[in-house]
Amino acid sequence: MQSINFKNNRLFYLDQTKLPLKEIWLECTSLKEGFMAIKKLSVRGAPLIGVFSAYCIYIHLKDLPSNKEKFLKKLKESLEHLKSCRPTAVNLSWALNRIDEIVIKNKDKSLIRIKKIILKEAITIHKEDIILCRKIGEYGVKLVNKGDKILTHCNAGILAAGGEGTALAVIYKANRVYKDIMVFADETRPLLQGARLTAWELAKNKVPVTVICDNMAAFLMQKGQINKIIVGADRIAANGDVANKIGTYSLAVLAKYHKIPFYVAAPFSTFDVTLEKGEYIPIEQRHENEVHKIINKVLITPADVKAYNPAFDVTPNELVTAIITDRGILYPPFKYNISKII
Ligand code: MRU
Repeated sequence: MQSINFKNNRLFYLDQTKLPLKEIWLECTSLKEGFMAIKKLSVRGAPLIGVFSAYCIYIHLKDLPSNKEKFLKKLKESLEHLKSCRPTAVNLSWALNRIDEIVIKNKDKSLIRIKKIILKEAITIHKEDIILCRKIGEYGVKLVNKGDKILTHCNAGILAAGGEGTALAVIYKANRVYKDIMVFADETRPLLQGARLTAWELAKNKVPVTVICDNMAAFLMQKGQINKIIVGADRIAANGDVANKIGTYSLAVLAKYHKIPFYVAAPFSTFDVTLEKGEYIPIEQRHENEVHKIINKVLITPADVKAYNPAFDVTPNELVTAIITDRGILYPPFKYNISKII
């Protein structure tokens, strides 16, 4: 299973807004299309938007017949434009900065060569992400026991990354090792990434999954039906504060009360050690229609009331039991332990 595909010099993506009802693959042929695919969440999830945006820059620039000076100017403008489309997940600017840096390093080469270098870097970012996901799975499985009942939030799986995902990489690996784990997927309002995407990909890969509404998690924890929480991340600050899909913070608070371990799984590319703490992480505000309507279709509120729609929240590091990375499992004190590996 894949969520994007670069083939014969063309970039294709699974339109996640149509899942689980329809599996529709679209082609990205321009920067504008790539920008909109990310903005609309056809392509989403922190690592995946990094990988996809790197390919998108190549697609946008590959046929530009301009001279080198104009090309480099266009590249800079395109990188900045694409970075602006989703502000919270740092993987987007991380991947685009890699493209920028490799071009700067090779700016004296011919334009044909520079275009090839951009493509090679995009492919490398993609291949690396597959390996990062695998390593997260391998480290994370050490925290899972036979018969575990694991709650996850939003979608941090194949649909969110180049490989098997982050939180779901741990779950896929644990399912292969133990065969008997159970997964609960929060539906994740407003855009239902848990109900639509996590449930879809886990079911397709034969991992037992039960969808719950977001407001059911506390009850299940109280009844002992959940004994572990594993989520992904969009950006982790230097002190271990974690930005992830809205609703993650409340799960962490619930986990603390019920003495359930709360794990975050993320590759090194999701850490932003330039930010001292989570309150500096920019939080994407999305359109109120996403709250007014179910999957942007059925109106469920009076049309004229206001709605508030922050797409992410920040979980303070003291609520995080451990961070599962591709470089090992990090425990508190996070500030010190993050500084050792990033
Ligand atoms: O708005 P989305 O669907 O892009 O949000 C995605 C998440 O919050 C994921 O949990 C996060 O990006 C980690 S994906 C491995």
